[in-house]
Amino acid sequence: MSTVILFTTKYGTAEKCAGILKEKATRETVTVNLAEQPEFSLTPYDTVVLGASVYMEKIQKEMTAFCKAGKEELLTKNLGLFICSGNAKGTYYLKLFGKELHRHAASKKMFGSEIYWEKMNPFERLITRVIKKTKTSYSELENQAISDFAEEMKL
Ligand SMILES: Cc1cc2nc3c(=O)[nH]c(=O)nc-3n(C[C@H](O)[C@H](O)[C@H](O)COP(=O)(O)O)c2cc1C
Repeated sequence: MSTVILFTTKYGTAEKCAGILKEKATRETVTVNLAEQPEFSLTPYDTVVLGASVYMEKIQKEMTAFCKAGKEELLTKNLGLFICSGNAKGTYYLKLFGKELHRHAASKKMFGSEIYWEKMNPFERLITRVIKKTKTSYSELENQAISDFAEEMKL
């Protein structure tokens, strides 16, 4: 049996984290962008990792829909959840995958954030300037959390 890491992202942080987890994995692992494959079948996998990023207090709608439709099957898997977000204290974001999945997950962690200044629109730049007080790209990934997650999930 093997592992699938399903992620949703706007600018690439969650995809990057999925890639780092894949690198750390010792078992066969695939990464999938859920927005490109919304009907992805979980049947061949015993371990499922779901990762999303937060914008205006929400995760991507593709992830929310997938969790809702696939909840019963996800509750039978070795499940892990991760969030990319600018608020290090936002552990409540992990509940956005759904309360039952949150309770069931063997590991759930905050992986930190990145800002891709060049890719953002003027509104997003304004929000970033006000909240993060920065006008440049940055990377603040929680490398220890990513390593701990890989270990707790036995990836
Ligand atoms: C317009 C905008 C809104 C954001 N809203 C939130 C938020 O509500 N809470 C939070 O913790 N982080 C917020 N962030 C930070 C993102 O979650 C962070 O940049 C993350 O790394 C983006 O991941 P992605 O590149 O995979 O989409 C916001 C960032 C932008 C640009």
